[in-house]
Amino acid sequence: MNSDSDLQIAGDILAVQHLLPPAPEHPSTVSGFVGLARSIAADRGRWAHLIEYDAASRWYHRLSTGPGHEVWLLSWVPGQSSGLHDHGQSSGVLTLLEGQLTERTGRGSQQLVAGSQRVFAPGYVHEVVNDSLEPAVSLHIYFPGLTEMSMYTAQCSPATQGGVPV
Ligand SMILES: [Fe+2]
Repeated sequence: MNSDSDLQIAGDILAVQHLLPPAPEHPSTVSGFVGLARSIAADRGRWAHLIEYDAASRWYHRLSTGPGHEVWLLSWVPGQSSGLHDHGQSSGVLTLLEGQLTERTGRGSQQLVAGSQRVFAPGYVHEVVNDSLEPAVSLHIYFPGLTEMSMYTAQCSPATQGGVPV
């Protein structure tokens, strides 16, 4: 039986760090942004003190920016909704940190619970609403950063433009 392994043939690649591609300092792929969102979600001390529930409107805070992306923290009281909107030319990763939110699209609705992630491309239209009885907190990464956002009527025709992250 031949028991040679790649490790026996080539040696331990981890022992020769200079041969490894450098770890990217900032994500540049969808999976990289999903991973960034997960790492922020797991680091509660980074965002828990920034939660702020505002009965007048959804409260949002830009958590960080990096090359080609920005990260927003949103706090939702029961009943608050984003309205139907797109994200301009940005793609995004939505990650629910606490509570429950409902996402509605032209294809129906789905419940988001803590840990749920949604990835969307430019042109994606959705509405996010807290129709639960508890507050919710969500994390939103946009790449590139959100510069425009169109609001839609229920018939999915553009109504207004703005720049509030959701
Ligand atoms: Fe959105």
